[in-house]
Amino acid sequence: MVFLGGAALVGGAVPIVKYLEPPVVGLSSFPTLQLVDKNGNPIKASQLPVNSPQAFQFSYPLTNEPNFLINLGDENNQPVQVPQTEVTVPADGSKYVFPGGVGPNKSVVAYSAICQHLGCKYPELHFYPPNYPPAQTFNGPMTKVIHCSCHGSTYDPYGGGAVITGPTVHPLPSVVLQWDSSSDELYATRMIGPVIYSHSSDLTGGNPPTGTVTQVVDVGNPFS
Ligand code: FES
Repeated sequence: MVFLGGAALVGGAVPIVKYLEPPVVGLSSFPTLQLVDKNGNPIKASQLPVNSPQAFQFSYPLTNEPNFLINLGDENNQPVQVPQTEVTVPADGSKYVFPGGVGPNKSVVAYSAICQHLGCKYPELHFYPPNYPPAQTFNGPMTKVIHCSCHGSTYDPYGGGAVITGPTVHPLPSVVLQWDSSSDELYATRMIGPVIYSHSSDLTGGNPPTGTVTQVVDVGNPFS
């Protein structure tokens, strides 16, 4: 190892420095990416199952940033219209406007799938639909929430990803979706809310997407 290091220093100091300091990667602005299935076919909003126990995720805006795609429903599995909502950030009292759900019933939403407390992901962090076993939150058993079993943070997917119970003091960042009513297709256009956990900016700290689509994948059923 000593011999290899010495040879490298003599013959290639500059390349080694470049290797140790990888180029800064990221984006200069939010891309617009179409949501597609694993075969590249467009996701149709009206065909997304309501209250699905399956966890559907897509990466946005960078390739290492997973988000949940959820068609929210009530106890009868009817889609629930998610209105525009003002969301408060408990950490500093600031507020922002969540634009509401999209799709034919305004019930389709997308949130970061990285817990804003300490970064836990699926399966620890997931949606608890009505009619499935409830999350055990600090407010008691609850459904219709996104709950993190790592330390008990609970978020309101019907209310812009707002914090219901800590220890998180940041809501779940939201992906602003656009729905094309003529084609029923969905697009991710930007993020709102706090910066995605552990990133200094939503646009840096990972690899930019290639192309103009992002694939929605079924990462599993936490109730099975
Ligand atoms: S990482 Fe989710 S509650 Fe701590």
